[in-house]
Amino acid sequence: MGNTDADSSKAMEQERVQHKKLCKRGGNEVVSISVKCELYHDNFQNYKRYGIPKAQLVIADIPYNLGVNAYASNPEWYIGGDNKNGESKKAGKQFFNTDSNFKIAEYMHFCNRLLIKEPKQRNKAPAMIVFCAFEQAQTVIEYGKRYGFMHSYPIYFIKNYSAQVLKANMKIVGATEMAVVLYRDKLPKFNNNGKMVFNWFEWKRDSSKEVPKIHPTQKPIGVLKRLIEIFTDPGDVVIDPCAGSGTTLRAAYELGRNSYGFEVDKNFYLKSKEKMIDPLFNEPAQCSLFVK
Ligand SMILES: C[S@@+](CC[C@H](N)C(=O)[O-])C[C@H]1O[C@@H](n2cnc3c(N)ncnc32)[C@H](O)[C@@H]1O
Repeated sequence: MGNTDADSSKAMEQERVQHKKLCKRGGNEVVSISVKCELYHDNFQNYKRYGIPKAQLVIADIPYNLGVNAYASNPEWYIGGDNKNGESKKAGKQFFNTDSNFKIAEYMHFCNRLLIKEPKQRNKAPAMIVFCAFEQAQTVIEYGKRYGFMHSYPIYFIKNYSAQVLKANMKIVGATEMAVVLYRDKLPKFNNNGKMVFNWFEWKRDSSKEVPKIHPTQKPIGVLKRLIEIFTDPGDVVIDPCAGSGTTLRAAYELGRNSYGFEVDKNFYLKSKEKMIDPLFNEPAQCSLFVK
């Protein structure tokens, strides 16, 4: 019996994740390396099905557990952003209904299994970065310790805008994001080009012309690239277990890192694949990107 459509599209899928990318490694040396970029529609807890390699960096924006107040103090709560028009469909709703699929203990277990072991050499140890709400940070640190990530420090991201405009005349509004960097024992790999790196970063929104808007809590590619450059080298593996729009995978791919992600929500998965990931492989060959 001949190949079915499903068989041939699976084969194509496997073929096109193998790309060659030119990357600068130290000095001006340019090397050609194979780069993978794979997104799975699955719960990260099912990772064993996919045989993915161990990572230098696991980076994720974990579900915020904001419940039905996800749009509180955001104008989107109202039709056209104006309370005179009455409440919109987003009033009293969650950002997405997959929060219950997320278990922090399972997440830390995943990171412990999927990050490379502590190496003997200096400047090679892996790291985990967890974007989270301020209220979640202590839980993340505590669960990290239970799974061997004994050390952590916070990093901050500064915006020049806020979504909390409805509270603007009542309180100081949030215009920052935070993440926690966790590691086991040795300080993680650190690429700083001899310059001090502050624990805050500018949060610039992606241009909608260059990056499709897919997810309500989508992280900017520029922010992710900066973090990936600091903690990994070209050819390293980056995993995002809660990939959402696939921004981490795209950022890693564009920097010549292999990337793997999981997204349990079918809608986000399909949009991410169609608009964020697939177009990476449709680009015509450029000086920095060659299809194998
Ligand atoms: C905060 S969002 C991530 C947004 C992403 N960083 C971006 O830039 O688009 C968290 C995502 O994790 C997904 N998720 C929740 N539990 C999951 C699980 N157990 N396995 C895989 N994905 C999960 C949710 O569906 C949601 O899209």
